[in-house]
Amino acid sequence: MLHRSSLLSSALKTVGTSVSLRFNSTIVKPKTAILMLNMGGPQHTDQVHDYLLRIMTDRDMIQLPVQSRLGPWIAQRRTPEVQKKYKEIGGGSPILKWTELQGQLMCNELDRKCPESAPHKHYVGFRYVNPLTEDTLLQIENDGPERVVLFSQYPQYSCATSGSSFNSIFSHYRQHSLPKNIKFSIIDRWSTHPLLIKTFAERIREELIKFGEAKRKDVVILFTAHSLPLKAVNRGDPYPSEVGASVHLVMKELGNTNPYTLAWQSKVGPLPWLAPATDDTIKAYVKQGRKNFILVPIAFVNEHIETLHELDIEYCDELANEVGVEEIRRAAAPNDHPLFIEALSSIVADHLKNGQAVNPKFLMRCPMCVNPRCKDSKNWYSEVCTQ
Ligand code: FES
Repeated sequence: MLHRSSLLSSALKTVGTSVSLRFNSTIVKPKTAILMLNMGGPQHTDQVHDYLLRIMTDRDMIQLPVQSRLGPWIAQRRTPEVQKKYKEIGGGSPILKWTELQGQLMCNELDRKCPESAPHKHYVGFRYVNPLTEDTLLQIENDGPERVVLFSQYPQYSCATSGSSFNSIFSHYRQHSLPKNIKFSIIDRWSTHPLLIKTFAERIREELIKFGEAKRKDVVILFTAHSLPLKAVNRGDPYPSEVGASVHLVMKELGNTNPYTLAWQSKVGPLPWLAPATDDTIKAYVKQGRKNFILVPIAFVNEHIETLHELDIEYCDELANEVGVEEIRRAAAPNDHPLFIEALSSIVADHLKNGQAVNPKFLMRCPMCVNPRCKDSKNWYSEVCTQ
């Protein structure tokens, strides 16, 4: 018996209310700006090509031979197949709507928790699609806050994702003068934050309870995160260990009630990436006689193509049918879970009150980093982010 999540429709229904919520409380001059950084996703299928083009030509994200020619060629070639996937999840990614809602709810809490730095206003800075980070930075400058917090929305740090966003801000200010009278600071990772861990545990409990009592304790909790090329891992990218830390703490929070494992999804291209792959893991466990699963997207804080298409359609529906899974469910991403909103506001509140302007770990490069932009970028942040 298979259960495909109906998260997309409920997600869109929920976030549909967020837009008016945001407009109703638009702040003209915030004291504190919180820039929520993420890769973003196309809202319409006609944005897919440019989105892929930006990914394929970003050397922080992916390194290809003759990238300036090969990147655009791959983007062009992959566009129809990716457009088809977006059509199958309703025509576009809900990531912007979720981020807007999370940001608005977070700022409402921050205004209560930290009146001294209020009013707070969230901004969205996407790396590959509108609202692009560089455009949002101009908007922030225009609004003239006293302080800007650059808040990575990837709980686990990778140079390919969070690092790319931070490097793009550095590149922007290479071409634009840095606004005077605005203080900058960074929240670069939060993979072990207790409220993030509790949120994931709750999302798992919500699904676990739906399994019959007789088999509930045997359900395999299959944590799944976006994979990374082994080349990046071998440079010393901290992502695999930070994902592992989240997994370990979520299982501890659950009281280690179930068997679990971590697998990696969304590999592209022929080169070796982190393994085992999520689909191979499902197949292998079914062969070992384990036929009940909960998939947990441990590195995504809101629904997007990797959860709604890859996990829900390709694995929980198509693959599960093909290999004879008995029951498979997918834990929702944190989205607007109250614990998650509390996590976001607590992380920022702690940062505003006591936090370092920049984490020393962020200023240290991967041991085998060969990207000169990382070096320049980190030097720049060490000068710009001061208490
Ligand atoms: Fe990690 Fe440059 S690749 S700091």
